[in-house]
Amino acid sequence: MSERATPKNIILVGFMGTGKSTVSRLLAERLGWKRIDTDEEIVRQAEKAIPDIFAQDGETVFRDWESRVLNEVLGGSGHVVATGGGAVLREENRRRMLAGGWVVALAADRETLLKRVIDADPEGTGARPLLKGDAAERIDHLLRTRRHAYDFAHATVDTSGRSPLEVAELLVRWAL
Ligand code: S3P
Repeated sequence: MSERATPKNIILVGFMGTGKSTVSRLLAERLGWKRIDTDEEIVRQAEKAIPDIFAQDGETVFRDWESRVLNEVLGGSGHVVATGGGAVLREENRRRMLAGGWVVALAADRETLLKRVIDADPEGTGARPLLKGDAAERIDHLLRTRRHAYDFAHATVDTSGRSPLEVAELLVRWAL
């Protein structure tokens, strides 16, 4: 961060499996802030599960929901915001996030990501529609296409080999 003022909001971005949801929960608890997960908010407002939005309405409709929800959430303050891995893809979203608070990218190496996404969905039920099929192959493809997608963040934390609690505590120290 360029100055030491407490940020208005803390926004976590990063690839699927970098720990945004878990870290955001712990961070919000530690700070006494409200936690908002944009994926959960989309499901609540759309009254539809994410795989159903992708399957029935298509990815663009999902991305429109994502931009709308981000806009709403970032209008407030004192929020820890966990975003979906693709929320960074639209320039308007990146601009909104940078203006709305302190943007932290969570990162992890390929093996860690793979283990986490498989552990989260061992049966491959498609809870993450973009990983349907061969998760390893899909992850490799997305990691290639999103290589620099998270570089715009104010700060980056490598979560490989770190517990969510360690990451959250590190962020509390940085933020306050
Ligand atoms: C997506 C990541 C998911 C969810 C959707 C699309 C992506 O969120 O928003 O399945 O494009 O990377 P998580 O990063 O929380 O898995």
